[in-house]
Amino acid sequence: MYAYRAPPLPAAPPVRLVPMVTSQDRAVFASLRVLPDQAGFVASNAESIAEADEMPWCVPLGVCDATNGGVVGFVMHALDPDEGRRWIYRLMIDARFQGRGFGRAALRATLAILDRLPRSERVMLGVDPANLVARRLYAAEGFVETGEMLGDELVMRRVLQR
Ligand SMILES: CC(C)(COP(=O)(O)OP(=O)(O)OC[C@H]1O[C@@H](n2cnc3c(N)ncnc32)[C@H](O)[C@@H]1OP(=O)(O)O)[C@@H](O)C(=O)NCCC(=O)NCCS
Repeated sequence: MYAYRAPPLPAAPPVRLVPMVTSQDRAVFASLRVLPDQAGFVASNAESIAEADEMPWCVPLGVCDATNGGVVGFVMHALDPDEGRRWIYRLMIDARFQGRGFGRAALRATLAILDRLPRSERVMLGVDPANLVARRLYAAEGFVETGEMLGDELVMRRVLQR
């Protein structure tokens, strides 16, 4: 008899998620950009930060490379006040830093925060059906498609671990 061992998860570089405290933080993270052909997949960070100003249940966080403090991306999670579900509203890695594991690391760091918050039995997100890189990443990190649509986006859900 062999005990089943889950395959090892791919390694991800260390990241630090930082709050948007000063106007300088906001400007730095707002300046990050995805590739031109990804622009339809995610709102600009400036729009997301402005949205968070209007909607206090949104938590915008900058993603920094923990090894050197460099600014690499942006994520925003939220507790929807109407339906009470937690969401990851945004995840992006600047085009210059994509493909190095930061997206996966930022997603895992966000899930680690959500795991510790109340009312986080599960977390939802919406993804463009054409965004195959993001869909594969989310599936690999335990998200499943729910069959729901939110506008043009597929809704995915992950059960959080406690
Ligand atoms: C989706 C996104 C956050 C991933 O970030 P990233 O730092 O590039 O991703 P990682 O380096 O952590 O890689 C995660 C997986 O995606 C794969 N991947 C990343 N970029 C890829 C590309 N251009 N083509 C194919 N696969 C790619 C990696 O190979 C890895 O898969 P693997 O572990 O099976 O090899 C980033 O591509 C992005 O910001 N896209 C634009 C915004 C967006 O679509 N956000 C999601 C909205 S729902």
